[in-house]
Amino acid sequence: MTEFGTPDVVHTGEVDEPIVGPDSVLIDVAAASVNPVDWKIVGGNLQGAFPHHLPLVPGWDVAGTVLAVGPAVREVAVGDRVAAYDREDHVQHGTFAERTAVPVRAVARVPDGLELVQAAALPLAGLTAEQLLDAATVRAGDTVLVHSATGGVGSFATQLAQHRGARVIGTASEANHDVLRAWGAQPVTYGDGLVDRVRALAPSGVDAVIDLIGGDALAATPQLLAEGGRLAAVTDPEVVAQVGGTYVFVRPDADMLGRLLTRVADGSLLVDIAETFPLDRAGEALARSAEGHVRGKVVVTV
Ligand SMILES: NC(=O)c1ccc[n+]([C@@H]2O[C@H](COP(=O)([O-])OP(=O)(O)OC[C@H]3O[C@@H](n4cnc5c(N)ncnc54)[C@H](OP(=O)(O)O)[C@@H]3O)[C@@H](O)[C@H]2O)c1
Repeated sequence: MTEFGTPDVVHTGEVDEPIVGPDSVLIDVAAASVNPVDWKIVGGNLQGAFPHHLPLVPGWDVAGTVLAVGPAVREVAVGDRVAAYDREDHVQHGTFAERTAVPVRAVARVPDGLELVQAAALPLAGLTAEQLLDAATVRAGDTVLVHSATGGVGSFATQLAQHRGARVIGTASEANHDVLRAWGAQPVTYGDGLVDRVRALAPSGVDAVIDLIGGDALAATPQLLAEGGRLAAVTDPEVVAQVGGTYVFVRPDADMLGRLLTRVADGSLLVDIAETFPLDRAGEALARSAEGHVRGKVVVTV
């Protein structure tokens, strides 16, 4: 993209070859998943958080094959299949590209047999889910409320909370209730009356709230939590602090990503892919995500 705007400002074109730093990995991109942060970046909404430089290639998630490594890289080698959540401290050289260079600290190996499209759908959303559950100290025996349980992050949080031995109540529209049940969670419809619906399932409140929505859902937290309950949220940091929660901004973590990829490969963590788009339709992929009702993940394939 050469300007900020709606997803249709994203187009294919030639950019310089990525620079492979001493501890970076050049990846031949097979797939890159879409996260809401990507269309927020395209819209210019993150310019207060990170320096941005145009022309800009969006995309923070990637899976592919290592083409080259910097001289200080020992963790992976040319030919390895890898995935990464490539969030750096400035925004320009993203993953919706044929090749991308990623700091090795963000890179994990993809287990044999796991498709790169599946691996690409995991990093940002899977890491966010795990880091939120850590922040809310979710453990066996807890009842956890996940707001937006069928989206990219929510689909992983719902499953990973149950891996820890927690019971999950998840919010979704009615169209998604059956899938939430299939994932082992108890669905509730979001919107007016949410507190009563959750209280009907958890009369003394829930032990933890994972908030991916903000607004009224976040504001309702004090009415939803049991005594001593914990909130972890990715939404408005000030409001999160006011209601006594922990704000999470997902960090790259190669070891955690490696563990999550292993779970996907062994079938214990399901990756739900709503739709894939070829690279030259990345703008449409971003627009699909921006509608706000994707179940699971949208992936760009190269
Ligand atoms: N701070 C961070 O580190 C961080 C990291 C990751 C994500 N995020 C943010 O977290 C949010 C969620 O990310 P995501 O990737 O999970 O998004 P997503 O995949 O686009 O979420 C789509 C899901 O949201 C559900 N939904 C829409 N409106 C809802 C509502 N009012 N209440 C409950 N669910 C609702 C939809 O379900 P229905 O179709 O049933 O409506 C759909 O399944 C985004 O704003 C993203 O930017 C922040």
